[in-house]
Amino acid sequence: MPKRAAIALGRIVSVTVLLSAPTGVVFMILAATGRLGAAMAFGGWAVVSFALAVIVRNHLADLDDLAAWIRSLSLGGEAGPPPGRDNAALAETVASVGGLRRAWQQKSTELAESARRNESLLDNLPDPLLLLDTSRRVVRANLAATRLFGSATPGRDLASFLRDPQVLDAVQAVLGGEKGARECEFSVMVPLERVFLARVERLDGQPSEGGTVLLTLHDLTTIKRMERMRADFVANASHELRTPLAALSGFIETLQGPARDDDEARERFLAIMAEQAGRMGRLVADLLSLSRIELNEHTPPSERVDLGHLLRRAAAALKPLAQARGMDITVEVVDGLPEVLAQPDELAQLFQNLMDNAVKYGRDGTQVEVAATLAGTLPPAAGPALRRGGAIRVAVRDHGEGIAPEHLPRLTERFYRVDTARSRKMGGTGLGLAIVKHIVNRHRGLLTIDSTVGEGTTFTVWLPYAPE
Ligand SMILES: Nc1ncnc2c1ncn2[C@@H]1O[C@H](COP(=O)(O)OP(=O)(O)OP(=O)(O)O)[C@@H](O)[C@H]1O
Ligand SMILES: [Mg+2]
Repeated sequence: MPKRAAIALGRIVSVTVLLSAPTGVVFMILAATGRLGAAMAFGGWAVVSFALAVIVRNHLADLDDLAAWIRSLSLGGEAGPPPGRDNAALAETVASVGGLRRAWQQKSTELAESARRNESLLDNLPDPLLLLDTSRRVVRANLAATRLFGSATPGRDLASFLRDPQVLDAVQAVLGGEKGARECEFSVMVPLERVFLARVERLDGQPSEGGTVLLTLHDLTTIKRMERMRADFVANASHELRTPLAALSGFIETLQGPARDDDEARERFLAIMAEQAGRMGRLVADLLSLSRIELNEHTPPSERVDLGHLLRRAAAALKPLAQARGMDITVEVVDGLPEVLAQPDELAQLFQNLMDNAVKYGRDGTQVEVAATLAGTLPPAAGPALRRGGAIRVAVRDHGEGIAPEHLPRLTERFYRVDTARSRKMGGTGLGLAIVKHIVNRHRGLLTIDSTVGEGTTFTVWLPYAPE
């Protein structure tokens, strides 16, 4: 007989004997007092014991099934229907365990949902985040971290993908028991240079899955670039102002000294001084204009403007400049072009700057072609305002020397010129395209530049229609 069956039988026998003992005593008294024959008394006791054994066996079998059912519930398996449904004595226990099971299932679903939400919260954080154990190995890395360091997978040593000594020192110090958080800056060079602020801190409480130290990286690249641009801007603006100022001071000294009585030199110098003062004036006007447009950039303009009319006026203003070089500006506007929501002075300034460049950098005797049409397909960089309704495209095309591709991404930076000496000689401040870019941004549009060296350049402005 198998051991389990022997144990079960033993339990049935012992419980039956225990339960039938009082009845046995009663039968013994009946036999002793002669009310019942010995054989009858024994037979009666045997019948009662047998009946009890059957009841005990069923009850114990139900109890065993219940124990097996609870065991399989505790192991998290699919336990099937509860046992002993016909057993009134067990029904309440089964119902209570069933209730416990439902409550536990609900709790574990809630916990799983909350863990999933936390997981997705971590993954949606824009900053890379790494959880490390006491031996500096990755326990968990969010999506931003795996995107930054492809190999930041659980189990890897931090030093195998982040080799910056300052960050490793900070992690070591915090793991070594240093109080508070440690911060340091470091750079990642590939694929593009990025600067990060690393923050290392020990997690409070019992570490989950061994995660002891949290390493968060905050991307400082944009802030650093802005800081550098601001510093460059101040340096460039002062330099641009100092050059004509130095020329003015030099001529003033000359006129006060050696050229005091030289009428011819005085006339010549005064003409140069007027030109330099004009240049300073233009520079200050452009700087003011730029800062005013930047200030309003977050409030979109609201006047309805007819582009055809505006483009023809801008072209007319530049005609004398173009004619002086044997050039012509043609303006073609498609019939029924919708209006745009704009600030008319800014929009006029935008197209004047583009036409001015086309005339300045176009070849003598060529044409500048301005064409306004409905935009068919939009460039990939087009924003939501252009995609929402329809868009208009205005192209300003020249036949000049063109611009080499390496300069194109930087053309709209303040003071950026392809040929600084030439631009200055022509009276340029290098702020024209920076102003254009900010006006386009304020109008929720887009500027694209296509150029072929030796053939010419097309600046295209994409603007959203005004709603009906
Ligand atoms: N149509 C063009 N063809 C060739 N190069 C151009 C053209 N437009 C702009 N550039 C280049 O881009 C540079 C920046 O242009 P931007 O209009 O900002 O400044 P600028 O024309 O030099 O001075 P400003 O417009 O302030 O008087 C120019 O110096 C020139 O080198
Ligand atoms: Mg210009």
